[in-house]
Amino acid sequence: MNVDASSPVLAYPTIGGYRIGEQIGGGGFSKVFRAIDDAKGRVAACKVVNLYAPDGYAPSLKDLQKEVQVHKSLKSANILEFLHYELLERGKTQHVPGLYMLLELAVGGDLFDKIAPDVGVPEDLAKFYFAQLQAAVSFIHEKGVAHRDLKPENLLLAANGNLKLTDFGLCAVYKYKGKKRLLSGRCGSMPYVAPELGGQGGYEAEPVDVWGMGIVLVTMLVGNTPWDEPSEATSPEYQAYLAGQLWNYEPWNRIRGAARDLVVQLLTVEPIRRIRVQDIPSHPWCMTPSQLTREQLPEALTQGLRSTGMMAVADPTFNDASYAVSRSQRVFGDSQWGSQWNQQESQFMRATGNLTQGGDYDAVTTRFWLTLPPAEAYDMVREYLASQLPEDGIQARSTYFRVAKAAGGRSVRGTFLFQESDTHAPTGQTLVSMRREKGSILHWRAFWWTIVRAPQLDGYVVRGDS
Ligand SMILES: Nc1ncnc2c1ncn2[C@@H]1O[C@H](COP(=O)(O)OP(=O)(O)O)[C@@H](O)[C@H]1O
Ligand SMILES: [Mg+2]
Repeated sequence: MNVDASSPVLAYPTIGGYRIGEQIGGGGFSKVFRAIDDAKGRVAACKVVNLYAPDGYAPSLKDLQKEVQVHKSLKSANILEFLHYELLERGKTQHVPGLYMLLELAVGGDLFDKIAPDVGVPEDLAKFYFAQLQAAVSFIHEKGVAHRDLKPENLLLAANGNLKLTDFGLCAVYKYKGKKRLLSGRCGSMPYVAPELGGQGGYEAEPVDVWGMGIVLVTMLVGNTPWDEPSEATSPEYQAYLAGQLWNYEPWNRIRGAARDLVVQLLTVEPIRRIRVQDIPSHPWCMTPSQLTREQLPEALTQGLRSTGMMAVADPTFNDASYAVSRSQRVFGDSQWGSQWNQQESQFMRATGNLTQGGDYDAVTTRFWLTLPPAEAYDMVREYLASQLPEDGIQARSTYFRVAKAAGGRSVRGTFLFQESDTHAPTGQTLVSMRREKGSILHWRAFWWTIVRAPQLDGYVVRGDS
């Protein structure tokens, strides 16, 4: 153990027999790690919440206790399984203090990692996952719990491709012994938040989750959230929606027929007139169920990313899906420790690839490779961005730069890093990592996609053959 008091380097503890491995995700106050139980040959995920974030930003212990108690009590096929937790308080532990939540590992990452910006996923796949989302939401509502933060980052994929709802950090228990109460907390992410949260006073819990499901559905169908916030004053798209005009424009006009009718019912402004969760399965769009088989999942999940060429840039080693699909049909009989998990994991990851995660797992970074040494790659990308962004849009440092792009509702901010890489050739290549700091994942990816197709860079971008 390091005993240097000026810079104490604390180690992570073992939680429920699992040691903490590499980081696989994170949010505002949390870091999520892979967790490994060497003795029993199991893997899980461990969400570590920092209780001591500065400036009173840390979530309250009371809220965290609610997250734990609620998540722990919700066991269902489409809810990420909560395994165990430990609270390590500062001063009472030799390890990194925090709240540790051991969770089932969702090896497929989040669903929206598979969504091509401005393209979306095939309608049949949207139907497949929307049905699972409906099952999850209907289950938690039966238990009297509203999630209040339904969005891409909180919908994960298990090894068999099933959807797993997680992150009960903003949930509310609104029903107890059959008696409902109104909620008052103003929370959630603006693009997914229901309009009644913009008003004063209490709101009904269930319709708020239904609205979130509507935004998730739109995002699956066309690869973008319809507006940045449901406010007439600030969002022209929301204004157009209220006027019934949004459907005349790209890409919203691609949502047609029964799908559009369902979206309109989910995104009904009056909460009382919004479709109820229990009525969703009998809507015509849901009555003709998805025809996808499990074997077709990997291909369907990557279709948008492959057909646009995004996969070939984000993951040049990703092989074509027919290979991946044949792999996924194998039966795993190996009883060696961990091998089943590891194989399931690599099989699913291999079959579905990953837009953000190349090598190490990192939910906020989008990457590409250039066949140039780092210094030249840096200059070239910076020059290109300088020609596209206003002067204050780039803050250059010696080996990286910060970029802020404000384009109507698509404003994003992040950092570009340039590292020498030998992933795709022995020498002379640069891995460009774009770390998103602010703005929607989909807008950050759309930005990435514009950059890698810029004529100035195009000839240097490494592309696989997916
Ligand atoms: N069990 C898990 N398996 C794989 N990835 C996970 C798991 N839990 C969380 N993640 C990743 O970490 C991110 C943050 O986790 P989340 O529980 O949503 O934390 P926060 O409350 O900070 O938003 C998720 O969006 C997801 O990308
Ligand atoms: Mg989250």
